[in-house]
Amino acid sequence: MNIKIVDNAFEMEYQQYLYEVCKRANYTIGWNDNGLIDTSNRVYFHCLLNKELVTRFKIEDKIRETEFGIVLKDYKAEGGVINCSRPGETYYTHTHPINELVVLYYPNLRWQQEWGGETMFYDKKTQELIYSNEYKPNRLLIFDGTIPHSVRPPSYISDQYRFTMSTFFTPKNN
Ligand SMILES: [Fe+2]
Repeated sequence: MNIKIVDNAFEMEYQQYLYEVCKRANYTIGWNDNGLIDTSNRVYFHCLLNKELVTRFKIEDKIRETEFGIVLKDYKAEGGVINCSRPGETYYTHTHPINELVVLYYPNLRWQQEWGGETMFYDKKTQELIYSNEYKPNRLLIFDGTIPHSVRPPSYISDQYRFTMSTFFTPKNN
């Protein structure tokens, strides 16, 4: 499956709501992208979203209202995560379990191109960079979690926090 994008995914009211959710989330420090011991000192602010929180925030319903609804008709949301990246952090390339589709949302209300913060995608075999997705507020993207990917941290002149909200979908009949 290719990487697909929906821009201006949600109405402003819901976009602002999700931004508030990200601001108020209970972050935990700890989250190591690739699980390797030598990178284990690189841990990040994140807030895991269980199924109940995904339901409470209406994320699954809102995603299904976009054109991703068709793509996800045989999938169900299992949970998700809010990530909060800050300037100067380092992120490693990683993949997700087989059969997992990732729907990634960019909730910051303002973002400038020179602030960085892109999501990078790599070739499965060569790990060559194949695609860089710019951080655009209110953008939603969907991709197969087995595509290697990483976060490009925001620059020092950027907004203080780069929020993302990921929702993980798995096949209904799994
Ligand atoms: Fe990921």
